Amino acid sequence: MSVSSTEPSSIDQQFQDAQTYIQIGPKSSQDSSNETKLAFYALFKQASTGPLDEKKNKRPGMFDLVARAKYDAWKKLGQMSKTDAMKAYMDTLTAQSPDWRQWMMEHNNKKKQQQQNEKRQEQKLEGTSPILLTASATMAKTQDTTTTSSSSSVFKSDCLKGKVAIVTGGGSGICKDITLYLMQHGCHTAIISRNLEKLQHSAQELESIVNNNANNSQSSDNKVRCVPLSADVRDYAKLELAFDQVLSQLGRIDILINGAAGNFLAPAEKLSPNAFRTVLEIDTFGTFYASKLAYVKYMKQHGGSIVNLSMTLHHQAMPLQVHAGCAKSAIDAMTKHLAVEWGPTSRVRVNAIAIGPIEGTEGFSRLMSKEALEQMRRKIPIQRWGTVRDISNAVLYLVSDAASYVTGTVLTVDGGAVYTTGGMGYPESTMKMSKL
Ligand code: COA
Repeated sequence: MSVSSTEPSSIDQQFQDAQTYIQIGPKSSQDSSNETKLAFYALFKQASTGPLDEKKNKRPGMFDLVARAKYDAWKKLGQMSKTDAMKAYMDTLTAQSPDWRQWMMEHNNKKKQQQQNEKRQEQKLEGTSPILLTASATMAKTQDTTTTSSSSSVFKSDCLKGKVAIVTGGGSGICKDITLYLMQHGCHTAIISRNLEKLQHSAQELESIVNNNANNSQSSDNKVRCVPLSADVRDYAKLELAFDQVLSQLGRIDILINGAAGNFLAPAEKLSPNAFRTVLEIDTFGTFYASKLAYVKYMKQHGGSIVNLSMTLHHQAMPLQVHAGCAKSAIDAMTKHLAVEWGPTSRVRVNAIAIGPIEGTEGFSRLMSKEALEQMRRKIPIQRWGTVRDISNAVLYLVSDAASYVTGTVLTVDGGAVYTTGGMGYPESTMKMSKL
């Protein structure tokens, strides 16, 4: 395979070049040269703007790209010397994007500056606010955060130390990142969903990320735990057993994140009664069951914080989503009802997050056509898609002491999309997406 092609650059070529670099270039973990960083930025760029994986109808994530590159390396090793490949890769990259180096330099300088500012702020705030560092840091970190492995945060790393959170649906997607982020701030977690094997794998992965992190190299007593527990949120009796397990293994339930959800696109006229019921049962009933259990079993006596994951789709309404829109509207209503009912007795706070378009999630590519997505991105006031870390940051804010006077709120996290993207792709593009 030649990587020194002088053909006009195409995204596919650049993607292949990045793969080639990774497969024969220096080991990323040991090499922090600009070249290595550059290659990873190229990969990152591909992960966010590159070609869609036709089969999955989504862009491959950063880890997919690296895994694929490693597989390719295994297949192609030996066809080209490492030095030649390196040089060819850099030439191609430079030819394609002459301003890459300049961009990298500026980016590195900006990052250094931010780190210095943050350090200064942290020193200033040490011992006063447990939570927030700087608003500009928030922006920078959010922009940089792309994968579940990032531990960067504007919150103090011990702001949830010793607390315990249950995250339903915490084994994958946005909820997995939320779980990781809570753990990175000192919180033990229990993740609950149907597939125990998947949960066990995720729990192991999360514990190893958090506890092996250099900043967090603690004695075994201080290790942050993630307990995987299998239960369908629609099954109150099984869910109760899971909550009992959390109490017996972790001793408390300070935080509940209601993230388990189910969705698909379907026209109302073809939606079976069971299909409608299924989504309401997972989303709305599941949220109620888990909230009630958390309250009765622990929070009523000790206080706590509940965050329900809602969406913005019913704020504007859209076709093919009557089931999900109804389920999430009910969750928004439940948030307010429970907030006013449970606040006076034990200061339990109940809030929700209305999630806008988040790139890389299952729903993102599945629930909208490519054309509608591109049209929509251009209309978002903040001019980018949301990231899972945007949601994790909002969750952390709501469960932290910084939000101790916030309850019954549905916090919209969508870059302002709800104000400007109404009707995007409507009706043609959206209506085409259902298989029914
Ligand atoms: N379009 C229309 N109806 C659908 C559907 C679709 N894409 N997917 C499921 N249904 C219907 C089923 O036909 C069934 O109704 P029926 O008994 O009248 O035929 C009903 O919904 C229940 O589906 P089933 O798959 O048996 O239920 P489940 O409890 O095993 O799973 C979901 C429910 C929602 C989790 C499942 O449909 C699913 O895997 N969805 C995609 C993944 C997902 O939702 N991820 C979360 C993203 S937010």
